[in-house]
Amino acid sequence: MNNMIAPSILSADFANLERDLKRVSEAEFIHVDVMDGSFVPNITIGAPVAKAIRKHIKGIMDVHLMIQNPDMFINDFKDAGTDYLTVHIEACTHLHRTIQRIKEKGMKAGVSLNPATPVCLLEPIIDDIDLILIMSVNPGFGGQKFIPYSLEKIKQVKKMIGTREILIQVDGGVTLDNAKEIIDAGATVIVAGSAIFNAPDVEQRIQDFKSLML
Ligand code: DX5
Ligand code: ZN
Repeated sequence: MNNMIAPSILSADFANLERDLKRVSEAEFIHVDVMDGSFVPNITIGAPVAKAIRKHIKGIMDVHLMIQNPDMFINDFKDAGTDYLTVHIEACTHLHRTIQRIKEKGMKAGVSLNPATPVCLLEPIIDDIDLILIMSVNPGFGGQKFIPYSLEKIKQVKKMIGTREILIQVDGGVTLDNAKEIIDAGATVIVAGSAIFNAPDVEQRIQDFKSLML
């Protein structure tokens, strides 16, 4: 399996999403950050916007829910055309049930861990999920600095996964300078927001990330 790049549209121009999505159309994933102002101290967009942009996304639409009570919105994100729906372990009282509901709707299920949340919590549900998202910053904002201990967590997740086909996604503070060591630790999908959309040439930046992943 090749490693993949997932531009986070949090750092795109929200007034020009169609234009910015075109610029990153070579990326395999498009990462959509949904924040509720409660689970994280910021508010972004919801299912209506995800639905509106879906037609401008060639590849996989990957939705990262940073919200309390994600079960309430599973249907809406399915209707929006979500391929991978990722919830935070810290926001799910009945995580197993939430994962089953996502899969019943025909979406791939992802589970995300905040920086202070241990990897061992994934053990009971490891056979039920398609993607593990290791947050390498505290979620809420783009442009933060990568937390170095995340590399250790990526290695632990890789070991726990063994031969299972589960994607390891890493999100927060990823740049051209640290992407290689993140991949070497075991990440298979690299999320990058500011490092892509703040680049002088966004198309070129996607190619630069891709060449690191060969
Ligand atoms: C942060 C979001 C990230 C964010 C990453 O809470 O989940 O997806 O866009 O931004 P950068 O790549 O700028 O750290
Ligand atoms: Zn994210």
